[in-house]
Amino acid sequence: MTGLKALLVEGIHPVAADLLTTSGIEVERESRAFGGDELVSRLAGVQVLGIRSGTHVTAEVLAQAPDLRVIGAFCIGTNQIDLQAATARGIAVFNAPFSNTRSVVELAIAEIIALTRRLTVQDDAMHAGQWRKSAKGSHELRGRRLGIVGYGKIGSQLSVLAEALGMHVRFYDTADRLALGNARRCATLEELLGDSDVVSLHVDGRPGNSGMFGDAQFGLMPPGGIFLNLSRGFLVDHGALRERIVSGHLAGAAVDVFPKEPAGAGDPFESELRGLPNVILTPHIGGSTEEAQQDIGDFVAGKLVGYLRAGVTGLSVNLPEVQLPRLGGAIRLLLLHRNQPGALAHLAGVLAEGGLNVEQQLLTTAGTVGYAVTDVRGTLGTDVTDRLRGLPETIRLDVIPG
Ligand SMILES: NC(=O)c1ccc[n+]([C@@H]2O[C@H](COP(=O)([O-])OP(=O)(O)OC[C@H]3O[C@@H](n4cnc5c(N)ncnc54)[C@H](O)[C@@H]3O)[C@@H](O)[C@H]2O)c1
Repeated sequence: MTGLKALLVEGIHPVAADLLTTSGIEVERESRAFGGDELVSRLAGVQVLGIRSGTHVTAEVLAQAPDLRVIGAFCIGTNQIDLQAATARGIAVFNAPFSNTRSVVELAIAEIIALTRRLTVQDDAMHAGQWRKSAKGSHELRGRRLGIVGYGKIGSQLSVLAEALGMHVRFYDTADRLALGNARRCATLEELLGDSDVVSLHVDGRPGNSGMFGDAQFGLMPPGGIFLNLSRGFLVDHGALRERIVSGHLAGAAVDVFPKEPAGAGDPFESELRGLPNVILTPHIGGSTEEAQQDIGDFVAGKLVGYLRAGVTGLSVNLPEVQLPRLGGAIRLLLLHRNQPGALAHLAGVLAEGGLNVEQQLLTTAGTVGYAVTDVRGTLGTDVTDRLRGLPETIRLDVIPG
């Protein structure tokens, strides 16, 4: 894969650069985020862009990046990328949906134990020179009820670890999810809230979830309850959470995500939750461990290489999924096109007229887009590729030599 250039920004783990370099891609690394005109100028001649959550790849940026073929979001979320615009330009986007699941779960477990034993309160008193030996308000986890809202990748793994510690797990999810171990599914959020000593929020950030947790939901939790949010900041009314802590209705909370988060390290942090007892605040570090960062670097770089080397779109965020093993010596054509009748027939016609024999082919469609991967033998001239690029439904054609 010579002649390809990658720009990796925001301090992506070095394993990503290593993997790309080993695959023959020239890599440039930057430690900070880029935006607007600066990003556009850095994208000249760049086919591969690697970002984390701080670099916004807007439709305007994409319109001015004609060389770009693929974006790797070395994180979980892809809200910072205009996916519709990327798809319209035939730019594949990949992320790392699983790599930091375990890290988030371990932080949640640590916080459930810390809050249930009032560790931060004890720790603050000791640092202030006060010896307050008491069992009041401290509990074992064993036998306590954990309610998990959102039983996806993180919620379900938390379920397994919490149960191993002796907690009784119940969960609520809007989708059908398999209950792991002895976890019990609740029919409604209300049922879960009324029956949990600890409530941990792990839903995704779909627009309908905005503000889903407010005073009414906290009010349904039993007195002495503990609340955790390591999912998204805009899901929770922090003013209401503050009131419930101050009034003593809730015994503690751990919050890792905030409606407005400072842009960079060292920036000031404001929140209604500052200064409250038995409330653990962390700067969105649920998934931030060295293990997770390394795994993300490895996972996403692997996806980028797979796409550039063989057109593989498995787990792509925006393109239909195609995984077709390569045939030795065959030329591979990657045709991304608008999903409309006749697209495959047009492709077959042009190849036949160009004297190219199709050895294998796979087409997948998703919504408005179709993606056909075709292996051919013969001599592929620019007459054929020009005709394919000129088809009315073509979004993008890439060719991987045999
Ligand atoms: N703190 C961090 O550093 C960090 C790191 C990784 C992920 N996250 C966040 O954690 C959350 C969970 O991540 P995941 O990988 O488990 O996601 P996921 O998509 O695997 O699971 C989310 C689950 O929530 C369910 N859900 C959505 N809306 C719901 C609702 N209103 N009520 C009940 N269930 C609902 C979905 O059906 C799904 O099962 C996401 O918001 C993600 O952004 C935070």
